[in-house]
Amino acid sequence: MNVKVFKTQAEIAAAAADFFCEVLLKKPNAVLGLSTGSTPMLTYEALAGRSAAGLADFSAVHTFNLDEYWGIAPEDEQSYRYFMQKRLFDKVNIRPENIHFPDGLAEDAQAECARYEAELAALGPVDLQLLGIGRNGHIGFNEPAEKMRAKCFCAELAEATIKANRRFFAREEDVPRRALTMGLGTILSAKKILMIATGENKAGAVYSMLRGEISGKCPASFLRTHGDAAVLLDEYAAALI
Ligand code: F6R
Repeated sequence: MNVKVFKTQAEIAAAAADFFCEVLLKKPNAVLGLSTGSTPMLTYEALAGRSAAGLADFSAVHTFNLDEYWGIAPEDEQSYRYFMQKRLFDKVNIRPENIHFPDGLAEDAQAECARYEAELAALGPVDLQLLGIGRNGHIGFNEPAEKMRAKCFCAELAEATIKANRRFFAREEDVPRRALTMGLGTILSAKKILMIATGENKAGAVYSMLRGEISGKCPASFLRTHGDAAVLLDEYAAALI
């Protein structure tokens, strides 16, 4: 994996935006894999800036997000769909019909996962997949487990993830316990992967990802099996490597 350490989060966001712009220049109808959470916020801000400056054209782009809480409506402020709308989609010239998401309100989670997987298979593979990492080493909602799932599935959030995501909700009991997520195989089928990790609370997970055994104990460690994966870190997240 190509690891780069930066001084500031703004530098990371600029470097991440460069990755996107490069892909979009080469392939205007690229398929972008996107993630949510705190980590990509500055990157989306940088991308919106590039778009405003005419340096990134989203008019032919398709996006597929990694995951969505199950049981939450797309217009709910806690949904990942809403997050993406506010943080990126409202600020760039993407066509609404080119935005792809798992439907958090689908009654039959398994059928919805199969639908999402098929939609991605028809348009994909993903040209550039943006990822964050959980403190427990998860990517998407692929939580640490003995066996990893290859395809999109309905995941149960690990206790650590519920606690980490608590900050976005009024009460801990409001944090959804399940989410629809791309599986590890789907994530790894992206042509290019870009992982960002910042802050000291990610240092342990980053160490396991880069230096630990490749196993379900740290789902992100499987990124080391990918031929074109870059990791952008700040000094805090890189402290143990
Ligand atoms: C979100 C996602 C998660 C986050 C991870 C880190 O779509 O897939 O795996 O990337 O939980 O979250 P933050 O960035 O909030 O620390």
